Amino acid sequence: MNEQPETVFHSASALGAQVDTLFLALLGITGTAALAVAATVVAFTIRYRAGSKVNRNDPPVRAPWVEVSWTVLPLLIFMGVFAWSSAVFSQFYRAPSNAVRIHVLAKQWMWKLEHANGKREIDELHVPLGVPIELTMTSEDAIHSFYIPAFRVKQDVLPARYTSLWFTATRVGRFNLFCAEFCGTDHSRMHGAVVVMPPAQFAQWLASGPIEPDLVTRGARIYRDYGCSGCHEPKSTVHAPGLIDLYGSVVHLSDGATAVADDNYLRDSILLPKKQVPAGFEPTMPSFQGQLDEDDLAALLAYLRSMPGATR
Ligand code: CUA
Repeated sequence: MNEQPETVFHSASALGAQVDTLFLALLGITGTAALAVAATVVAFTIRYRAGSKVNRNDPPVRAPWVEVSWTVLPLLIFMGVFAWSSAVFSQFYRAPSNAVRIHVLAKQWMWKLEHANGKREIDELHVPLGVPIELTMTSEDAIHSFYIPAFRVKQDVLPARYTSLWFTATRVGRFNLFCAEFCGTDHSRMHGAVVVMPPAQFAQWLASGPIEPDLVTRGARIYRDYGCSGCHEPKSTVHAPGLIDLYGSVVHLSDGATAVADDNYLRDSILLPKKQVPAGFEPTMPSFQGQLDEDDLAALLAYLRSMPGATR
């Protein structure tokens, strides 16, 4: 599977098609306006050239309807484009709740990817056709940017926090995956491919190769091995926040603020437990900074997401 990725002029994702339509509409509107202005300039230049016999007396001083229409029409067009593009844009930040999650770890200079069943790949991302995919991404070092031109998606990947990106592939094939943020010497070589497969073929691919424990199982093991269960189990005698129902819920903090228990909140709670202390609890939890690596954190998050009652 090392053939060249396709060069794509029409998009290969569901939202990408909407981006293309919007882009072509903008091109049409601005192109029409530019041509109309240019044509008027040329026509007037010819009509009023030196020596031409046209009536130059009594030019109109005021033309209210012309003035109103060239103010109101562009305003309506611009507001329409604004509403339309906002509607498209906002969809990029609302992954459907049934999206399949894949973890992405960027490092100088490669992309490491891990599927929920523990299957890993480097610089290649296999996804099924027609299924929404949500990537949870972080970086081990510099700022990178995950960019799939054919899907019209791009998202910065930052150290010490998660960003996400989602898409639904609409065409089988092999597409470019680039790093779009200068991240050091070999930035230009930090590229790979997204391979879109029919779902049945993808399922076969996903089940093949070395079988690793899946993320949730690994997370449950870390949860026990690092002693998280000692305090956070419902029957524990230590007064620590329960973790059932936690993922995706609203947490009231001791400073009166609220937070949503999403990936970033949970990551911070593990690594920087004093940053956001839930109301009614003492800040006694130790930090696990330096003890858990990104793989461990991804597994722990998958475990917390798998708890009964967790909402995305
Ligand atoms: Cu990673 Cu540029």
